[in-house]
Formats: sequence, structure tokens, C-alpha cells
Amino acid sequence: MRTVETQIAKARAELAAMDIEGVRASGILPASGSKFFPVIGYPPLTMFSDMDQQAIFQNFDSRPARKTIAYIHIPFCPSRCTFCHWITKTKSKSEEVDVYLDYLEKEMILYKTNMGMEKIPAHSVLIGGGTPTYLNVEQTLRFMQMIHRHYDLSVCTQFSVEAEPRTLLGDDGFEKLRIMQDHGVHRISMGVQSFDDDILAYMGRVHTHQDTLDAITQMRRAKIENIFIDLIYAYPNQSVEMWTRNMLQAVELDIEGYQLYRLRVKQHGDRQGNIITQFNKKPDVFPDADTIQLMKHLGIMISEDHGFHEYQTRIFAKKENDISHYLRDWCCGLTDVVGVGVSSWSNLRGVFTLNVGDTSLQTYYDLIDQRKVAINRGKIRTNDDELRRNFILPLKNMKVDKSYYKLLTGITVDEVFGAEIEWLATIGVIEQNNDYVWLSKLGRFFADEVTTQFFNHDYLPFPEVVDAQKQALG
Ligand SMILES: C[S@@+](CC[C@H](N)C(=O)[O-])C[C@H]1O[C@@H](n2cnc3c(N)ncnc32)[C@H](O)[C@@H]1O
Ligand code: SF4
Repeated sequence: MRTVETQIAKARAELAAMDIEGVRASGILPASGSKFFPVIGYPPLTMFSDMDQQAIFQNFDSRPARKTIAYIHIPFCPSRCTFCHWITKTKSKSEEVDVYLDYLEKEMILYKTNMGMEKIPAHSVLIGGGTPTYLNVEQTLRFMQMIHRHYDLSVCTQFSVEAEPRTLLGDDGFEKLRIMQDHGVHRISMGVQSFDDDILAYMGRVHTHQDTLDAITQMRRAKIENIFIDLIYAYPNQSVEMWTRNMLQAVELDIEGYQLYRLRVKQHGDRQGNIITQFNKKPDVFPDADTIQLMKHLGIMISEDHGFHEYQTRIFAKKENDISHYLRDWCCGLTDVVGVGVSSWSNLRGVFTLNVGDTSLQTYYDLIDQRKVAINRGKIRTNDDELRRNFILPLKNMKVDKSYYKLLTGITVDEVFGAEIEWLATIGVIEQNNDYVWLSKLGRFFADEVTTQFFNHDYLPFPEVVDAQKQALG
């Protein structure tokens, strides 16, 4: 107990020493806390318009090629978590999952055919969800074999799968893990969210704290090398003490690292989770902005003190190579992405596309029956989009490599963003040397708000966010 109090006091003191007021006074934070705009990709999804597969595949051979990585989406889950905004289906029967796998394979084949490739080269792979480990033993084997049939994994540096604890338990759980490991899965990222059973129940999760511990043991037994967990802070009724205890438990686990997510109450994609109803009914049970800041800093401080470093924004690991290669490749390598499955997105040779996101799955199936990949929205990137994206994504997630930027765009970072960088450096949120530009320790606290400053103003849902920048830069 004393440890918890000591940690909180230390975090408060460290926070007080940071010039948060200076950042606030600079005007880069939106006046209203509700106007939080997470920077997930660039250009943002709000700029996508109707599109079908023609845009992504036309003149494919003549467009400049980049390295490709693979995303595969499995939409099934054991329960619907209150906070989740993803497109998911719960309690699906085994036959329904079989049908989805049939269509997933058809979509992989459609990509290969349209790209004129025998196999899709995958420099890293992420199987996300939903809950990919919802598949039963036979389906897991079939799915793994399918991936090896259609993707070239000889170039893959990391094969990562998202999981939920209960789906990894018992003999079946172990067998699924063994099959995945046997097919090259190195890394599992497991949704844990909290170590408090009452919060887990309130979140609508089916697993308990003990299930988490047992699932980690199972993964180790199955020789999964790289285990990550997801935790959420700023959850309703979660006190600072509870969060501190969670963090102190996390750093003692036999894992390589973890992702710390601040609860997002509002959707950023097509679906709004039920959490908004709780927020509208009882906003008082949600931690306020100052408490959220304290929780965030506790997460960073306890991690650093125990040898977990924030190598990617909100991703903490003991060793840098254990971080998500998929995220590193698309945000810093600025690679192309082949995404298959309902609600997945792709990025091929200058065109972004988003797949249909219907929970019934019928629109997804209908498009594939027409021999089309399941795209319904997208954006052909302009030169302005490229100049900004190649800076925004690495800045938000890791650091901008100036020579790589020049290689990709033919122009220097200073020529494009020199004035903005200088201004944000005076506020103390950005640092640079001859080789890199990165968010300072203070800047990482406001990663979304700082990176938003580099957006095209027409792409902002809250244009006043850049007013301060306009004034400062004249
Ligand atoms: C797509 S889920 C996959 C993990 C798996 N389905 C599970 O939940 O066990 C990836 C992670 O996103 C995070 N997440 C989902 N919704 C969130 C929200 N509204 N706010 C913050 N984090 C969220 C959770 O930590 C979750 O584990
Ligand atoms: S958090 Fe994970 S398990 Fe829960 S509904 Fe979302 S994707 Fe499914």
C-alpha cells in the first residue's frame, strides 16, 4: 500500500515539474477536452470517399512499388466489451466462422491476382480483430495454412496475433498456441485491460485476472517468444490507486512488454461503443483530465523505473526489437499494406482504401462474390498528403528520420516544416538534431495534439486546433 502511495506522490511531483501550463498557454490543446482527435493515420478516415477496387489496382505495375506488410482481420469475439468501437460479432457459431474463412481466402486470392503475384510478400504480419484466437483448433490450423499458401513469409521479421485470455486456456487453447507457433507466430498481443475482476465484469469481459495469469503460462509453455498485453486507463470507477496497483503488477509479469491505452469514449471509425451511454448517464464516474494525466504519467514512470521503455508511443518494451514490427513498418517504414477481412484497410502504391465494415458480413461476402476485394471507401494521396504523412506518422509513433524523408519525398524536412518545428521546439514539445526529429518527453504527453499541427488545415474536424499555429507562424 505504501508503495502505491509513494509512486503516486512521485508521479505528482514529476508532473508538477513539467511545463504543462506552457503547452496549454501555447494554444495547441483544444479548448474543450471532448475535442480530442486521435491521430491514427494520415490522411484521416474522415477524408475518404466512396471508392471500389478500380482505384487501387489500375495501372498497378506502373506505380512505384514499396515493401508490403499484411493485415488480416478476424471479427469474432467471446463478448462485446462496453468500451470497444471495433466492428465485431459475438458468440458466432463455428459454421459462421468457417464461411468467413472461405471468403477471407477468396479475398487473399483476389489481391494476389490483381497484383499479379504468386504470393503476397509480407515483411511483417498482424492478425487483428476482434479476437483471432476465437477460432477453434481446426480453424486455427486451416487459417495458418491459408496464410502460408498466399503470403511469402520468407521476408517476414515478425508474425503477430491479437488474443483474448480465455480463448488460450485449456487443452484447446494450448493446441491453438502450438499450431500458431509451429506456423511462425512469434508474438501475441493479448487484451487484458485490467487486473481488477470487478472492472473486468463492468467492461463486459469474460475473463478474470487468474485467466490472464494462466494464459501467460500457456503461451510460455507453447514457446511464444514475445508476449505483450493491452491495458486501459481512465476507465469509469478506476481510481489512481487501482491503476497504480495494475502498473506495479504489469511490470512483474513474465512478458516482453505492453500497450497502455487511454480509454477512448468516442468512436473514431464507423461504430460507436456502448461506453458513450454510460458517459452520458454518469459522466462523474469517469476520471477528469488532470487525473487522466496523472494516470498516464504513472504508466510511463513505473515502466521506465522497471526497465520498460516507450519505444513506440504507448508501447513499452524491455527490448526495442520486441515492439510491433507491423506498426513500425507502416508508420516509420511507410510501407504498403495489404489488408483483408471486414473493416480492414489497405495502402497500395499511393492509394488508401477501407473495406466494408458491416457486422452482418453480408456486404463483405456480396462484394467478394462479385470477384471484387471488399473496398467501399478510399483516398488517392496527393503530393501534399505524402509530404505530411511521411512526417506525421513517424513523429507520432517513433521519430522522423530526416534522410529517409528526403529519400521518399525528394525534399528536406526543413524545407517543408522548418518553421513549425522551430515554433514547437520553443514550446518544448519537439526536439531535433541533424538526423532526426522527435517528440520530447513533454511532447509525448500531447502526441496527438502536437502531430495535429502538421495536418492540412482542411483535414481537421476542429479547425480551431491550429489557430495558435497560424498566429505563431503569421
Ligand atoms: C482490437 S482489440 C484486440 C484484443 C482482443 N480482442 C481483446 O480485447 O482481448 C485491441 C485493443 O484495443 C484496446 N481498445 C479497444 N477499444 C478501446 C477504447 N475504446 N479505448 C482504449 N483502448 C481500446 C484494448 O486494449 C484492446 O485490447
Ligand atoms: S475489446 Fe477485443 S474482445 Fe472486446 S469486443 Fe473489442 S475486439 Fe472484441
